[in-house]
Amino acid sequence: MSLDVDLGELAFSEGGHLLIKHALRNAGAGESITVTGTSPELEIDLRSWCRDQGHRLEIQPRNGGQLARASIVNGGAEDKRWTGAQRAGEADAAQPDGVVTHAPRRWGLAARGATVEAGSPEFDFHLVDKIEVWSDDAARLYAQAVAAQWDPKTAIPWDAEFDLDEDVEDAVVQIMTYLIENETAALIIPSRFIAQLHPHFREVMQLLAVQAADEARHIDVFTRRAIMKREHLGRSTIGGQASLKTLVDEPEFAIASFLLSVLGEGTFLSLLWFIEKYAPDPVTAAVARLAAQDEGRHVAFGIAHLTQHLNHDPGFRPHLADSVRRRHDALQHTAGLNAEVFDALVLIAAGSWNPEDLRRGHQRVMELTKDMDEGRQKRLRRLGFSEQEAAELSSLHTRNFM
Ligand SMILES: [Fe+2]
Ligand SMILES: [Fe+2]
Repeated sequence: MSLDVDLGELAFSEGGHLLIKHALRNAGAGESITVTGTSPELEIDLRSWCRDQGHRLEIQPRNGGQLARASIVNGGAEDKRWTGAQRAGEADAAQPDGVVTHAPRRWGLAARGATVEAGSPEFDFHLVDKIEVWSDDAARLYAQAVAAQWDPKTAIPWDAEFDLDEDVEDAVVQIMTYLIENETAALIIPSRFIAQLHPHFREVMQLLAVQAADEARHIDVFTRRAIMKREHLGRSTIGGQASLKTLVDEPEFAIASFLLSVLGEGTFLSLLWFIEKYAPDPVTAAVARLAAQDEGRHVAFGIAHLTQHLNHDPGFRPHLADSVRRRHDALQHTAGLNAEVFDALVLIAAGSWNPEDLRRGHQRVMELTKDMDEGRQKRLRRLGFSEQEAAELSSLHTRNFM
């Protein structure tokens, strides 16, 4: 079969090549097409292009006339080039095999669902197994996270007027200092795993990126609250940093996510709602509330992907339990929660230095730690731990809360 392409005045380099390519593709390997046109460079362009592409070219002389005429036989190089190419799953994760069990490193950065040329370079992604990272909830949580982004400038009543007792202001600054440190760990950890995650698991990559952006915002607003009325921030302790370092150093995604998101951020939910409830000023209340709402999603994703992981591999549960015990052992000689933070929480919950109020403030902080413990146990049971294990593991959770 011969296909005719009449370019008219259209030059090869003006888009004429698209028509020729299209015709050659339709003709298929070994078949010929006829090209005609009046562009003065047509023969020169065809010669170099056909040589490049491996097509056979026969040019008929113009014989003084305007019209150039050539026939091109498709050399089949394009077909050969794409033999061995592979479809990298499907863009829609819900399609069968849309998300594969093991994502080949040679798919690299290709969009999920793209056809990847054979021989593409391998990327050094560590997290390539679906079981380790995937949750069917990731897309939904990502959409929710994007819709729930708030603007620190408008979401927080920065202009609210308040004047706290000096000690209460100091307590707020100390709590903010502690929160910033913990939020920094919560930003670094998912960010590090994003770089190790095979982009095939796109929805998880996107969700972790929004999570990191959430933490960036938390750091921002806690810092702004801390310096509203003070030049300097509060104290950072060895115990707090040692606790966070065990999280930052954890190399395994599933374990880091269990310790950080399920146990740490889960515990922080109680803490942030507590701060919101007893906040001595509207700015502190707002930053705590907005952060707590975001943390709810971070915890939800941790539970979602670990539930899926454990459904496929219940044998992984004891590893999770061990990670809590190991972390506890590593931290047993550190102070845990910084005493200044504890005292600051008592003071804001008391609202004054009045002994009766302080007793009530202390009582409230005790209730907070009980609430944190109950929350951890509930989440551990959701991951399939027995009541007894849940109680044991919760009691071994770091005293730094995160
Ligand atoms: Fe956060
Ligand atoms: Fe978080």
